Amino acid sequence: MSATIASTSGAPHTAILGLGAYRPSRVVGNAELVDAIDSSDEWIQQRSGIKQRRFATEDETVQMMSVAASRAALEQAGLAAAQVDAVIVATVTHLMQTPAVAPAVAHELGTEHAAAFDVSAACAGFCHGVALASDMVRGGSAKNVLVVGVERLSDILDLSDRGTAFIFADGAGAVVVGPADEPGIGPVVWGSDGEQLDMIRQREDWREALAADDPQMPFLMMEGKAVFRWAAFEMAKVAQAALDRAGVGVDDLDAFVPHQANMRITDAMARALRLPERVAIARDIAEQGNTSAASIPLALERLVADGEVKSGDTALLVGFGAGLAYAAQVVKVP
Ligand code: COA
Repeated sequence: MSATIASTSGAPHTAILGLGAYRPSRVVGNAELVDAIDSSDEWIQQRSGIKQRRFATEDETVQMMSVAASRAALEQAGLAAAQVDAVIVATVTHLMQTPAVAPAVAHELGTEHAAAFDVSAACAGFCHGVALASDMVRGGSAKNVLVVGVERLSDILDLSDRGTAFIFADGAGAVVVGPADEPGIGPVVWGSDGEQLDMIRQREDWREALAADDPQMPFLMMEGKAVFRWAAFEMAKVAQAALDRAGVGVDDLDAFVPHQANMRITDAMARALRLPERVAIARDIAEQGNTSAASIPLALERLVADGEVKSGDTALLVGFGAGLAYAAQVVKVP
C-alpha cells in the first residue's frame, strides 16, 4: 500500500496577541533574608540589583498563578478560553513529576480539550515556549497557543545558601501566540551546553533526596561566578544572532527584555550589544527578583504598564539558565 499522508500548513505569520502577569502578594525585602546568609541589603543590591522579591503564599500555587496570568493574556488578546488550541507551561517548580500542570491550567481556564504540556528549560523556558507556539501556529497544528512562564522557586530555595537565597523568587507571566498579517515573532536562536550541567542544578534528584537519613527538598544550587561569566559574554552573542536572523538592527529596537537573572548581567549584555540610549531596558529584577521562566513576560508587562514601551514596539527577548539552555527572539509588543 502506498498511502499518502496529508500535510498541514498554518498561518504565514505569527504574533503575540496578548500578555498577562501575576505577581504574588507577599513582598520580601532584602532585610528579611540577610541574617540567615550573613549579608546586607547594600551587598545584595550592589551585586544583583535586587531590592525586593515576591514569594508566593500557600494559596498562590503554580496552577493558580498560571491561570491568573493566562486570563489577563486572553483578555488582552480578546479571545475566549475555548479558542485556545494548546497550552504550554514553562516551569521547573511544578513539584509533581506527573501529570504536568498544563492540562490542569487548560481545564481550569475552560479550554475545550486543548493540547497541554509542560516545558522544562529553566530560565530559558518562556522563550522556548514562544518558539514552539509560533512554529505550531505556522505549521498548522494549532491556531492560538497560550504560553505560560511560571515559578515558585521559594519552594526549592535553601534560605541559608549565600549564593542563591537572595536571587530567586516566584511569579507568572503568559502570552497568547496566534496568527498575524505581519511577522510579529522572529526566528528563534536557541541551544544548550550540557557540558555545563552542574552550573545551576538541584542538589540531588528526588530518589537521592528521599534516601537520605534526614530527607530534605533537593534545593537549587548555582556556581554564581561561572554562570555570571557565561551569561554576560555568551548570551550577548545569542541576542545579537537573534537580531541578525530577524533582520533587525539595534537602531530599530525599542526594548531589550533579557531574562532577569542579575542586573549586572543585563548591564553587561546591553553594553556588548551597544544598545542606543533610547532603547528601554527591562529592570524588573529590582522589584521582582529572578523568577526564572516567568521573568521575561513579567518584565515585559512591567515595561508596558510603566509606559516605557507600547503596542507595536519591537523587543529583543533572551532567556538563559540551567542546562545550560538558551533561546532568543525578536517580537512585536502586543
Ligand atoms: N552576602 C554577602 N557577602 C557574600 C555573599 C552574600 N550573599 N555571597 C558571597 N559573599 C562574599 C564572599 O564571601 C566573598 O567575600 P571575600 O571577597 O571577602 O572572600 C565575596 O562576597 C565574593 O564572593 P563570590 O562568591 O565570589 O560572589 P560574587 O561576586 O560572584 O557574587 C553572585 C555572587 C551570585 C551575586 C554572582 O556570582 C552572580 O551574580 N552570579 C550570577 C547569578 C545569576 O544570575 N544566576 C541566575 C542565572 S539564571
